[in-house]
Amino acid sequence: MSSNRWRALAVSFLIVAMVSAAGAKEVVVRLPPESLANWYKPDNERQVWLHTMFGLREAVQAVEHYTASGDQERAIRWSERLRDLYTKIPQMVPEWRVEVEPETMERLVIAVRTGDKPETGAALRRLDTTCDGCHSDYQATAAALYRSPAYSEVLVTDGQNGSATYPEAMREISRSLNHVKIALKDGFPRQAQSAVATLRSELDRLSGSCASCHRDSAPRERIFGGMPDLLNNLHTELEGADRSAQGRLLGELGVTVCARCHSLHRTLGDLRDEIER
Ligand code: HEC
Ligand code: HEC
Ligand code: HEC
Repeated sequence: MSSNRWRALAVSFLIVAMVSAAGAKEVVVRLPPESLANWYKPDNERQVWLHTMFGLREAVQAVEHYTASGDQERAIRWSERLRDLYTKIPQMVPEWRVEVEPETMERLVIAVRTGDKPETGAALRRLDTTCDGCHSDYQATAAALYRSPAYSEVLVTDGQNGSATYPEAMREISRSLNHVKIALKDGFPRQAQSAVATLRSELDRLSGSCASCHRDSAPRERIFGGMPDLLNNLHTELEGADRSAQGRLLGELGVTVCARCHSLHRTLGDLRDEIER
């Protein structure tokens, strides 16, 4: 690890140790430099950064493989490709110059060229620590920022020729669901039935929004496939007085429709909103 990285880490430990005025523990999340955005959609046509990374891993593996099998010519060619890709890191994101070790990369190229296996292994291990160092700080936040879905741009039709944002549509859906629950608790089954009907049309409209990100209908089916039966059963149960059956169906709706979709989409979206501020 370079001395620059040690210094950066020492600073982050100082901050991590802090506790806010409200007494809450604070964790420091490192955000990648903004110049990284140049190498992702929508600023770039392709996910250039990610593909450079895949190329790095491939080249490291090839150098290891051909060094072990004694094919020096191919090992040399791959070590040069590895150097080209590694050199791109600080060219693409100048702020990350402190994260890479060009001298270690050079050491590896020379070791491969001279056929020095132990030295090749040592240089590869050292190079690997620079990969790990940057990844432990930035990999997760970079993926969340540049490769997670953005719901703020997706619209849901509101049933009156207009459209609502995802958070707006969700607040409506959640109000309708709670309306069903309140009416049930206070013994107004007719109101509960009409709230179920509203909820059904809201969820139907929500299901129309899936196509903005999912080309095929399988994901939509997975969440909404069982919903019509579930809502029909709920409507029927509301005619009777079996509170536990009513509660069970509502719970099932919450788990199979709301919670399942949230666990797939919401956590990452929330994290992105949080760190984008
Ligand atoms: C200066 C920072 C930095 C350095 C150095 C670095 N990486 Fe990365 N790497 C990243 C970031 C940021 C991501 C997350 C990209 C994303 O998910 O879109 C990443 C992601 C990856 C991935 C994708 C993992 C996955 O499956 O999602 C691979 C593979 C990878 N890096 C390989 C390497 C290798 C091999 C090296 C060293 C030779 C290396 N990286 C050095 C920053 C770095
Ligand atoms: C803003 C984009 C976006 C919208 C809108 C969206 N999804 Fe997704 N969804 C994703 C991403 C990204 C993933 C994870 C990667 C993948 O599997 O495609 C995902 C994964 C899923 C998965 C798990 C993977 C699979 O194919 O089974 C399901 C199920 C799913 N979504 C259902 C839905 C439903 C239902 C809707 C509409 C109510 C919806 N999605 C709307 C982006 C979106
Ligand atoms: C696409 C699948 C999907 C389904 C199905 C779904 N949600 Fe959501 N929900 C989301 C996403 C994505 C967000 C985050 C939206 C954002 O803030 O950008 C969210 C956010 C919310 C929020 C927070 C809104 C706010 O104020 O920011 C509530 C409340 C909510 N959902 C309730 C529900 C309930 C209740 C159901 C079931 C009856 C449901 N959702 C079904 C995807 C879904």
